[in-house]
Amino acid sequence: MSERSHQPRRAVLYVPASNEKAIAKAASLACDAVIFDLEDAVAPAEKAAARERLRGWFANRPEKTPELVIRVNALATEWGTEDLLAARACAPDAVLLPKVNTPRDIHDFDDALDETDAPEGMALWIMIETPKAMLNLGALAEFGRDRAARLDCFVAGTNDLVKETGVLATPDRRYITPWLMQMVLAACAGGLDVLDGVSNDFRDLDAFARECAEGAAMGFDGKTLIHPAQIEPALKAFSPSPDAVAEAEAIRAAFALPENAGKGVISLDGRMVERLHLAQAERLLGRAGRS
Ligand code: COA
Ligand code: MG
Repeated sequence: MSERSHQPRRAVLYVPASNEKAIAKAASLACDAVIFDLEDAVAPAEKAAARERLRGWFANRPEKTPELVIRVNALATEWGTEDLLAARACAPDAVLLPKVNTPRDIHDFDDALDETDAPEGMALWIMIETPKAMLNLGALAEFGRDRAARLDCFVAGTNDLVKETGVLATPDRRYITPWLMQMVLAACAGGLDVLDGVSNDFRDLDAFARECAEGAAMGFDGKTLIHPAQIEPALKAFSPSPDAVAEAEAIRAAFALPENAGKGVISLDGRMVERLHLAQAERLLGRAGRS
């Protein structure tokens, strides 16, 4: 999956696979994607039941749903293989692999999916949440350029990064921001989507809106969410603003004028605009559904 997907992934909600009520609600929510979690949100004693619940839900999945993703436990854990088989049976749009450290983890998981004859279209998303993954970001992102690999999306695991490093978690995220920026850069290099980490305080929606705006400014495609109340602010923050859409339309219109045909650079309202800005504008208009 080497081309960046054009499907928006602005608001991506985690739903614990142990929570029957939450699962029942998931398909009708306005988020772009749902991640059914078998990993950290599910206690060891509940893992088996959670897997069966997912199998049941997918067997009768509604026709129209957000993009559907299942987060499994890492293969090396005691739940990994059973989770993989359950995910294969459910056939979601993507499987999200946590605790990835090295390219070998992606190879092994890709191979394991191939061994189950998983459809080619079943994508792989990975969590970036360990110090080793941070150090291997470039090599991990390379899989995005490999047509045979399934890798399609990076997901920032900020809670685990904080836990692993002992860095102080502050409301302005000052100490983890450099790592977040590295993830965005690597994802761009690999042609991958990249999603910002969760915001644990789901009652403070003002703080949440600020964090979303910051994530959008950093270049993330969207944000992972833990609560339905976070969907609307995330959709808003990661959709192009009306001002940005208007500016992009002005650039497109200017290059479409006969006198500008074949020109590489033009002047628009006193500013230099190049064809690279046109490409940027067209991408933004695509995201806004105006291509
Ligand atoms: N997905 C779908 N529905 C959810 C939801 C979620 N992630 N979180 C809450 N809801 C539902 C609840 O089931 C509840 O439904 P009801 O009104 O029919 O009872 C409603 O939204 C309101 O929930 P609320 O009472 O505000 O929250 P809570 O105390 O029940 O749950 C959490 C709070 C944090 C435990 C819960 O939001 C959650 O489990 N989030 C996801 C955690 C997760 O997956 N973590 C792993 C990745 S970091
Ligand atoms: Mg994690």
